[in-house]
Amino acid sequence: MRAAVITLSDSGYAGQREDKSGPLIQRLLGQAGYQVVHTAILPDGRQPLADELRRLCDEGLADLILTTGGTGFSSTDQTPEATMNVVERPVPGIPEAMRWYSLRITPRAMLSRAAAGIRGSTLIVNLPGSPKAAEECLSAILPTLAHGLEVLTGPAQSCARSGMDQTEGKRSP
Ligand code: MTE
Repeated sequence: MRAAVITLSDSGYAGQREDKSGPLIQRLLGQAGYQVVHTAILPDGRQPLADELRRLCDEGLADLILTTGGTGFSSTDQTPEATMNVVERPVPGIPEAMRWYSLRITPRAMLSRAAAGIRGSTLIVNLPGSPKAAEECLSAILPTLAHGLEVLTGPAQSCARSGMDQTEGKRSP
């Protein structure tokens, strides 16, 4: 599967702060067998991200796009809005799973407004901005993403026929 990683950060975009979350996500994706085909650092705000998401999806450049940052309460945090502007089919269960998992680590998990959805045959998922939060959220969903992407991009067709193990990543409460 081909993945793209987009970091939302005004200071990162201006070269004033090192992007630690983007490279971390790239590494975790690589370890999980994804081919990271595109990375970018964009300024906070709705339009640049929406344009980049549309381009990547409509040109069929990635099966999965992970964003990091811009999911909080600051006025410049517009990542979920940009995402929901471009998705054709929302996937609320993915951010629900991230928050459910993360709330057992920190109550501040409820402050992430992360969204997810499908445009064409590309899945877009928002992760929070800090490396710690991004890694925790990704670990909550990564084992299950593969099955969703296989159905989305063709090979599995449906859950019943995929023959995949449905216990991937299952944790005891
Ligand atoms: N989720 C996890 N798993 N771990 C965290 O430390 N931090 C929260 C939340 N989600 C956190 C988390 C905090 S403090 C904020 S403000 C929001 O994510 C939004 O982060 P963002 O604006 O960097 O996207």
